[in-house]
Amino acid sequence: MTLLDRLAAVVGPQHVLTDEALTRGYRTDWTGRWVGRSMAVVRPASTAEVAEVVRACAAAGVSLVPQGGNTGLVGASVPADGEVVLSLRRLNSIDSVDPVGRTLGAQAGVTVADAQRAAAAGGLMLGIDLAARESATLGGVVATNAGGLRVVRHGTTRAQMLGVEAVLADGSVLRRWTGLAKDNVGYDLVGLLTGSEGTLAVITKVLMRLVPPAVDVHVALVGIASLGAAVDVLGDVVRAGSMVEAAEFFHADGLALVRETLGLRPPFPVDHPTYLLLELSRTTQDDVADLLERQGRRVADATIDAGPASRLWAYREAHTEAVSAAAASGGTPAVKVDVSVPPARHDSFESELRTVLTARFPTAQVVTYGHLAEGNSHVNLLGLPEDAAEDATDVVLRLVVQYGGSISAEHGIGRAKQRWLSLARSPADIAAMQAIKRALDPQGLLSPGVLLPPANPE
Ligand code: MLT
Ligand code: ZN
Repeated sequence: MTLLDRLAAVVGPQHVLTDEALTRGYRTDWTGRWVGRSMAVVRPASTAEVAEVVRACAAAGVSLVPQGGNTGLVGASVPADGEVVLSLRRLNSIDSVDPVGRTLGAQAGVTVADAQRAAAAGGLMLGIDLAARESATLGGVVATNAGGLRVVRHGTTRAQMLGVEAVLADGSVLRRWTGLAKDNVGYDLVGLLTGSEGTLAVITKVLMRLVPPAVDVHVALVGIASLGAAVDVLGDVVRAGSMVEAAEFFHADGLALVRETLGLRPPFPVDHPTYLLLELSRTTQDDVADLLERQGRRVADATIDAGPASRLWAYREAHTEAVSAAAASGGTPAVKVDVSVPPARHDSFESELRTVLTARFPTAQVVTYGHLAEGNSHVNLLGLPEDAAEDATDVVLRLVVQYGGSISAEHGIGRAKQRWLSLARSPADIAAMQAIKRALDPQGLLSPGVLLPPANPE
């Protein structure tokens, strides 16, 4: 029996895709920058089927790439050279919402938006939100330890994790599922699999904490002179005791792209160099207005809406789509580099970055936006010569390191940044990660070339 026959016997022939046209969407990442070859796309519907698929691939010595919504931006969810794509999208049921224990248990292929809706129906909220919510899956956000819009309030995905079920590289099923706030038995395997980018196991189910919903929410869009001024305003808002649900930034060039793509009206009669979007809870319109008033000349302009579903969010959330549309019209995918630096140095980092990049790549347009509280810039490079992606990434990441930052804030390392791992982690650290990889996946079957260099099979 060939591997494809065996896979078809496990999941049904209609869920083993080999046709180039049918597999294209699974082989191409969201940005269009990463396109690979795949032997087949396999779509199991249960943990037992995932385990069978992994066992079959292991027996045949064929590598696998787990994939959720395929909204990742570092090439981690697509194959490179013939790997089987293991799509988790059919594992899409929500097992439980426990309003007393405040937990949600769900299969890996449930989208973030569906999990949010289930949590809301139980009177609670998922502590994770991101613009790709309708497509991104829980398994994907766990695999990447995704950040998103609510980190300032609830922490990253890792902070939401109470349990996980995952299929290991030998097909065995690991389950940590007590849901207890206090459970100190052994290594933190849930924390380890969170952010492992598909390299250690295939996540099949997740148990997440839920949080009380934000109440009396108001959203303010603030026109401001600089990123530094935005950081100062946020500092004052936090010191004033306000409950910050989100703090995002973008600049005039990004806003122009968003307005063009979505056909939106300008938020203010005049443009400002930088914009701060604040979502605050347990507050009133007047309180937010007072708070911003007290900032004096730091705040050039502001508009406040009752939230949370404010139209003001579109100006920030549509940046990814707008950059992608601009890249498509230019004919080359955008180079996207997600980084963070200490917030106090954020403004000088971005200024120096623009100077250095435009001196080295005069045709490049540098569009940045991101999550202010974490000093997290999404650096998007448009109009780069096609062969300059690696050099430009190198420039960005080296500057990040000079500023004491992280080369991956929230998107992961994936294939995009694998060759720069040693900029961010010591030899001992990388050796420890490789030892873990070898212990859990000795054949190097899971997502080879993602995060770590491909291992030599034992
Ligand atoms: C965002 O914050 O909008 C996302 O991380 C996606 C992006 O970097 O474009
Ligand atoms: Zn982001």
